[in-house]
Amino acid sequence: MTAEAAEEGLGRSRDEARPVGVPAGPEPERGAAEVHLADVKAHEGVQAFISLADRYLGEIGYTEHGFRHASLVSNIAFNVLHRLGYDDRTAELGAIAGYLHDMGNFVSRTMHSQTGAGITYDLLRDLGMAYGEIGIVLGAIGNHEEEFGNPVNPVGAALIVADKSDVHRSRVRVKDPTRFDIHDRVNYAVTRSFLRVDAEARTLTLEFEIDTEMAGVMEYFEIFLSRMMMCRRAAEYLDCRFKIDINGTAL
Ligand SMILES: [Fe+2]
Ligand SMILES: [Fe+2]
Repeated sequence: MTAEAAEEGLGRSRDEARPVGVPAGPEPERGAAEVHLADVKAHEGVQAFISLADRYLGEIGYTEHGFRHASLVSNIAFNVLHRLGYDDRTAELGAIAGYLHDMGNFVSRTMHSQTGAGITYDLLRDLGMAYGEIGIVLGAIGNHEEEFGNPVNPVGAALIVADKSDVHRSRVRVKDPTRFDIHDRVNYAVTRSFLRVDAEARTLTLEFEIDTEMAGVMEYFEIFLSRMMMCRRAAEYLDCRFKIDINGTAL
């Protein structure tokens, strides 16, 4: 789904969209504005900080963490919640959390999820978002890194799976393969990645096509094991099983 579709696909009411067993999203707060993904994207601070976060991470040798990553994670988080039957507002909060989750990297890579949550509070309040909704978004952002994060709400669980799904050749900035570190090598090896959501089977399957000449499957797991364990916990939070498929083989 495109970002535009994520912004537009919001026609269902809280109760229409919610199947049995799926909790409703937050109640609207009196006096607060319904802040949409388009409003967040248009905020000057959001644009400035995501741009700086990507530039500063580039300075210290990290893969791409800019608007491409932000938009992709936003779309995937929206899709996960939408397809699993969560109401439209919860899905849009997933899209907003996905777009903002790595913004704190412009302050420091270390603890960027916590720093980012603090900055996000100010920006969302500036836009007039209700406290209850801000709390959901901040809980998601503050828990998206594997070192200390845990799925604490459906938005956060979707954000974890969406963020960890973005492993791809296009994220590598280093042009010379002889200068690749293990993260560059593994990202560069992935020529296709896709998170398949099967609402009936209750599975979230991360499908990768890997060029095994660039990086072996074992190398992939060497750096991604902790992320995949986090994805499993996040999928379980969403009442799903997490599966990985590499080059057409289920692992
Ligand atoms: Fe992050
Ligand atoms: Fe990220």
